[in-house]
Amino acid sequence: MLQFNFGEYTTRVFISREIPGLDKIAADVDPQPDSSELKSNLFFICDENTGYIADKICGSFIAPRCVLKSGEESKTWDSVELILEAARKASCGRDSYFIGVGGGVIGDLAGFAASIYMRGCRFMIVSTTLLGMTDASVGGKTGFNLSGIKNLAGSFYPARNVYMPLECLSTLPEKELKSGFAEMIKTAILDSDDFLEQLSIKNYLDHELPADLIERAVTYKGAIVSEDFRESGRRMLLNLGHTFAHALESAAGLGEISHGEAVAWGIARACELGVMLGITPAQRAEKIIKLIKSYGYIVSSPHPLVSDTEAFFNAIKSDKKKKNAKLTFIVPGTESAVPVTMETENDFKLLYKVLNVQKT
Ligand SMILES: NC(=O)c1ccc[n+]([C@@H]2O[C@H](COP(=O)([O-])OP(=O)(O)OC[C@H]3O[C@@H](n4cnc5c(N)ncnc54)[C@H](O)[C@@H]3O)[C@@H](O)[C@H]2O)c1
Repeated sequence: MLQFNFGEYTTRVFISREIPGLDKIAADVDPQPDSSELKSNLFFICDENTGYIADKICGSFIAPRCVLKSGEESKTWDSVELILEAARKASCGRDSYFIGVGGGVIGDLAGFAASIYMRGCRFMIVSTTLLGMTDASVGGKTGFNLSGIKNLAGSFYPARNVYMPLECLSTLPEKELKSGFAEMIKTAILDSDDFLEQLSIKNYLDHELPADLIERAVTYKGAIVSEDFRESGRRMLLNLGHTFAHALESAAGLGEISHGEAVAWGIARACELGVMLGITPAQRAEKIIKLIKSYGYIVSSPHPLVSDTEAFFNAIKSDKKKKNAKLTFIVPGTESAVPVTMETENDFKLLYKVLNVQKT
């Protein structure tokens, strides 16, 4: 078990092979409820593909649940409202345990709903995608997309317990598994060359993923978020590749490209930008891009899904991390990564170059 303190919250992470049952979950809750108290307070949030996992958790017990449509298109205020309404119908109170069973979409939505239901009820995640395990389920960022902009609204509300049953990955479509490796590669770049090396030894899309790689990614993320829960400094590093990725996701149409594929492409852009700025050693950039390619990601620019370059630049410019007309990008350094701000016309020219498009 890994344990992290995020601001006033404590998150405990349980990585296991099997899907936990209700007895296991009851035993892990702190302070410990008796089994009937837990059962009377459960409320599950899952999507069309993860209901079977909620079934396995519950066994013969029938708990109230809200089932959302799967995918990024569901990450909307309407879904939050559906969760809140279903919780009301199930007579949930502030003592209820909202348990999100799914990937990053369900984790972000369930966490946000838990953060506002009766001004905050108890919240856990059973993370069922590689992306959820390596990144989204830990750190307390919750939220939903608004007006086509990724994660425009949300809250900081960490899950108390996060379960990562590797068994769930056996039913995950390959596309989604691949999506998760991008966030893992991102973490490895930030953590150490040793971690990067470990990912380069073999392509884990074709081999069983060892639990210790997930543990390594979670340990790194947990440590960085513990230092800077509300992202006023170091946590920003976790956005490596993300300014480019969010713009690509928005320009392609939310849900048209997986988050991980967009992040992988964004990391390649960040490497190129870092080299142009003289921050990323060319050799390191080459090594990272080679690794990303070996996992089958598109690294060339412009991305084939960007037909409207203007919409793409508008998406970059409207990035919510922009402060005082400055855009912040994270680029790999000699080790780990560093933030750079772009604000002048010359900076923007550099961006056009990195993106390999003509200014319209
Ligand atoms: N909160 C954070 O810190 C954070 C960090 C990174 C990403 N995110 C968010 O995470 C989201 C992406 O997460 P994701 O990639 O997990 O996507 P997702 O939650 O949409 O899951 C991907 C697909 O896999 C299906 N699925 C999930 N588990 C399954 C299983 N075990 N077997 C079969 N199918 C399964 C889902 O139904 C969905 O169709 C994005 O919205 C992104 O913004 C959040």
